[in-house]
Amino acid sequence: MCGIVGYIGEKDAYPILINGLKRLEYRGYDSAGVAIIGNETKIFKKKGKVSELEKLVKNKDVSGVIGIGHTRWATHGEPNDVNAHPHTSQNNKFTVIHNGIIENYGRLKRKLEDRGYKFKSQTDTEVLANLIEYIYIKGNGEIDAEHAVRLALSKVIGAYGIVIISKDEPDKLIAARKGSPLVIGIGEGEYYIASDATPIIEHTDSVIYLNNDNVAIIKKDQLTLKTIGNDELKPLIQKLTMDIGSIEKNGYEHFMLKEIFEQPKSILDTFRGRVAADLSEIRLGGLFEVMPKLEKAKRIIIIACGTSWHAGLVAEYLIETLARVPVEVEYGSEFRYRKPIIYEDDVVIAISQSGETADTLAAINIAKEAGATVLGICNVVGASIPRETHAGVYTHAGPEIGVASTKAFTAQVTVLTMIAIILGKNNNTISDDEYTSLIKELTDVPKKVEEILKSDPIIKKISELYKDATNFLYLGRGYLFPVALEGALKLKEISYIHAEGYPAAEMKHGPIALIDENMPVVVIATQDNSYEKIVSNIQEVKARNGKVIAIVTEGDTVIKSMADHVIEVPKSHEAIAPLLTVVPLQLLSYHIAVMRDCNVDQPRNLAKSVTVE
Ligand code: G6P
Repeated sequence: MCGIVGYIGEKDAYPILINGLKRLEYRGYDSAGVAIIGNETKIFKKKGKVSELEKLVKNKDVSGVIGIGHTRWATHGEPNDVNAHPHTSQNNKFTVIHNGIIENYGRLKRKLEDRGYKFKSQTDTEVLANLIEYIYIKGNGEIDAEHAVRLALSKVIGAYGIVIISKDEPDKLIAARKGSPLVIGIGEGEYYIASDATPIIEHTDSVIYLNNDNVAIIKKDQLTLKTIGNDELKPLIQKLTMDIGSIEKNGYEHFMLKEIFEQPKSILDTFRGRVAADLSEIRLGGLFEVMPKLEKAKRIIIIACGTSWHAGLVAEYLIETLARVPVEVEYGSEFRYRKPIIYEDDVVIAISQSGETADTLAAINIAKEAGATVLGICNVVGASIPRETHAGVYTHAGPEIGVASTKAFTAQVTVLTMIAIILGKNNNTISDDEYTSLIKELTDVPKKVEEILKSDPIIKKISELYKDATNFLYLGRGYLFPVALEGALKLKEISYIHAEGYPAAEMKHGPIALIDENMPVVVIATQDNSYEKIVSNIQEVKARNGKVIAIVTEGDTVIKSMADHVIEVPKSHEAIAPLLTVVPLQLLSYHIAVMRDCNVDQPRNLAKSVTVE
């Protein structure tokens, strides 16, 4: 969601803030703003991209060595200059940037209005700024800024990551976290703060992740960490492993394209060190302790949102087929509110690229309270989900900046495939031969993806033909049904073309009515158990003059003679096919979006990490 950055030290704050905002822009890009403490607090904010803010600030005095910046994904109040952060309290005592939602802001606002407060914006953040100020002024000099912040936060219901400047105590930043992530970077005589490590990594690799209910009082040479209840805490300093190259475009036009092309490496990085050199074994160190629980589980519940949910659906096929354990796949947002039945011997697997998705986190807590063992599969080291779960596995895809998830998805599916193979072996539901042949198949994926990426020019030509379509249908069966859903989601997200994914056989129960000569139908039709059936489905589409773009196993002549276009992928075991077949779909959506002049990395209304429900 929103991106937060802050600096306190001896350097000019503005260049650090604006650069940080550009790094964070993938989190939200409705509007942006900065506040810098110089002789006075200077605030600049502007609707639109960070570049609009830069234009506004050009030739203005932005001197100052302490400052905060924000890039917004609107929740309360439309994106405009007034609703952009930072927000200042009525008497200018406090300036606040905020990520999250203050749920009881309406009630708090009314109380403040009764006490004479007037509001300029429609945001919940301005309510928080005024609440802090109200408490501070009422304290009559008895309470300092930090104390006022803690008291205000004790009245707030909701989620926040906030950074605050106080007019009367301009030598410090006050930060607090509940639900929305914040990380502090430690320099020499300086501190950085941000909603994720991307703006920090170029300055320092020593960081402190704030936990829920933490408040940090940051001076340039001193950091105090407390709970909201005023108990002092010892900060845990950790090392960032991310490298700066991984958050730059490295010559690619977009992050999304770079991330699609990184997949041979990100998949390799995800299984590297986990597969024995002689391919005789897979080990997942993070699951070692909980493996007996996984083996005994009567049921596995997978919880996720968005693309991660699609990875979960692939896992349903993988785990049920290979390990014969029943799997249910749930949206975090539904699971958390529908009184789910959870048994103590259930194992819950939460999947999340960011590790911060609010609905997934809430669902994890419900599962934990019910006594289930909860595992996490996450891409961002140190994020909330790995910290809230009992055990887990990191995908080593590296930072994913493009809002549409690509390499994180294939890394998630790689981990889930490993889990299914291990469980199959331990549960004796696959033979030793199948076990070794699946490991070999998995380790062959990077070079097969490399092959698929060579089809990029063919996919680009196909994209040219269909870029003006208004609807797309994606069909797949079995393991490839979730891939159809993911292909449709990718297209919707970045090109704004309406697309639906369907199990191919279900086409007859509705979508077939939509098929005519204007309807491109992407069929994922590699040679597996249901090959004959999907060939029939292609015939059904062709009989109604639909245009078929088929993803096929290389050398397939049957479908080639029927489809309008084919994109070949190397032959593989059907359990491995999702990792291969999704790649052409990512490229198809990418090219169509570029040809339609869409902002591929920052699609409208979307955010990379959804930290509000
Ligand atoms: C947002 C992102 C998606 C992502 C989903 C779940 O909608 O735009 O790309 O799949 O959140 O995020 P997570 O970080 O939990 O995987």
